[in-house]
Amino acid sequence: QQNEKESLFIVLEYAQNYFHDLLLKNEEGISVGQSYFIERGFSKAIIEKFNLGYALDSYDDFNKKASLAGFTTEILEKAGLISVKDNQSKIDRFRGRVIFPIHNVAGKPIAFGARILKTDPKAPKYINSPETEIYHKSQIVYGIYQAKNAIRQADNCFLVEGYTDVVSLHQAGIENVVASSGTSLTPEQIRLIRRFSQNITVLYDGDAAGIKASLRGIDLILEEDMNVKSVVFPDGDDPDSYIRKVGSQTFTDYVNASQKDFIRFKTELSLEEIGNDPIKKAGLITDLVESITKIPNPIKRSVFYQEVSTLLQIDENILINEGNKLLRGKN
Ligand code: GTP
Ligand code: MN
Ligand code: MN
Ligand code: MN
Ligand code: MN
Repeated sequence: QQNEKESLFIVLEYAQNYFHDLLLKNEEGISVGQSYFIERGFSKAIIEKFNLGYALDSYDDFNKKASLAGFTTEILEKAGLISVKDNQSKIDRFRGRVIFPIHNVAGKPIAFGARILKTDPKAPKYINSPETEIYHKSQIVYGIYQAKNAIRQADNCFLVEGYTDVVSLHQAGIENVVASSGTSLTPEQIRLIRRFSQNITVLYDGDAAGIKASLRGIDLILEEDMNVKSVVFPDGDDPDSYIRKVGSQTFTDYVNASQKDFIRFKTELSLEEIGNDPIKKAGLITDLVESITKIPNPIKRSVFYQEVSTLLQIDENILINEGNKLLRGKN
């Protein structure tokens, strides 16, 4: 329904301004929310660029203000901004958290991510808007509006895990960056990026979960006929923590020096485990061939067969035959 979508856009815009104004002008917003961002090293300019905000530590301040402003309970609930219990008690979804608005490609807010201020094992670190008529989390990447021109210009997109990675890299002058925001990467998200460039560099967190997610993402990216490179950060670091530690020049040098195409990325990850075990080596080769068969373009496939052949010292024709078998099985 077109009308309802319009109303959702309007209420989300209202909410973005509400959270943003609290962060900038409200006593609690300044002393709690702004302090949090400043401690993380975020500048006023970057707060403006991403329209960051703060949600009061209150049960229903947002609901009260939004109701006074004329928004119905129905639309506030549909927008995912409040929840209604037992058909009457209304409670704000975001309370006592800093707010990251999620924008569509046109720059309109369609959802929010909200971070807790202190580590609390009993509460989730982030609370996000639910799926709504205008927010489908599998179809959007965080930061695409702020990044799209830079992605086009650099002809490359850095893909990170988190909101703070995007914001932090922007502040350091690296603007061609978007986040999958915790969900595993989807074909729709990759196609959205492909509108601006065919090249993705995956910069996931330097922990086991990040590496696993990178591996999962690679095949999906190849399947969408895109080129993919991956970087592993030193253990425990993510792009945000690393760039704050070393600065943007060293960060860029590190990315340039350690980014690897998917063949080298997978090979070097498994090298230690493989040792001299020929069966494990065969397993890796099969895995690489499988990835290569995801690539729609036959010329690119052939380049990667050559690379595997050289890198792992195996006859190229054997690889091609195996790959073709897999491809025939698919059709
Ligand atoms: P900081 O700790 O603030 O630096 O955030 P981060 O982005 O480094 O967090 P992390 O690496 O743990 O997670 C990456 C992304 O996954 C976050 O930016 C969120 O989008 C998402 N995420 C993390 N924790 C949660 C959670 O508890 N709930 C939900 N829904 N998403 C989460
Ligand atoms: Mn502003
Ligand atoms: Mn992580
Ligand atoms: Mn982080
Ligand atoms: Mn992280």
